[in-house]
Amino acid sequence: MDIDEAISGRRSVREYTAQPVDERAIRRLIDAAVRAPNAVNQQPWTFTVVRDPGVLDRISHDAKAHMLATMPPSPNADHFRSLLNDPNFQIFYRAPVLILISALAQGPWIIEDCALAAQNLMLAAHAAGLGTCWIGFAQSFLNTSDGKKALGVPDAWAPVAPIIVGHPKAAPPPVARKEPVVRWVG
Ligand SMILES: Cc1cc2nc3c(=O)[nH]c(=O)nc-3n(C[C@H](O)[C@H](O)[C@H](O)COP(=O)(O)O)c2cc1C
Repeated sequence: MDIDEAISGRRSVREYTAQPVDERAIRRLIDAAVRAPNAVNQQPWTFTVVRDPGVLDRISHDAKAHMLATMPPSPNADHFRSLLNDPNFQIFYRAPVLILISALAQGPWIIEDCALAAQNLMLAAHAAGLGTCWIGFAQSFLNTSDGKKALGVPDAWAPVAPIIVGHPKAAPPPVARKEPVVRWVG
């Protein structure tokens, strides 16, 4: 698959088959992630691979409660609240794998570094026939002490990008993009 196909064909996948993702495939995704540009070549990222469905269920439950208790007002708040109050909604869509990209320590560019690694990982997954979705709903809980404990993540680490991975049930339809605002100077 060429780069244009990978970029334009990738979609957030929210329905997965029960098929596990093999370890070699996961390692290839991490290998793509660490090729990302990163500030001062610090490569601050770490990868926590979670394949235990019981752990994912528990984190989903606790992350939903945490979001409901702490969510700031926003235009999407009502929609989020009704999703998070639905007992059948699992924030990880029952994907077989979660890869949490965290930084080893706080620093001025860790969000950028880990997000670029995440994008590489998601594009590589798509090129390999796998689906992914960034799960922002997990972020605030995973950044608490209880959230880190739930995954055995050291307290000093900073979770940035929770990415689910699995075999897509079907190819999701394209999601429209707005016309970009572009200003030319010179
Ligand atoms: C930072 C971030 C957080 C996101 N959080 C969620 C989430 O919690 N749940 C979800 O279903 N999708 C989540 N998404 C996926 C977006 O909804 C998706 O990327 C967007 O709708 C565009 O669709 P596409 O990825 O298929 O192009 C998130 C994406 C990003 C970049």
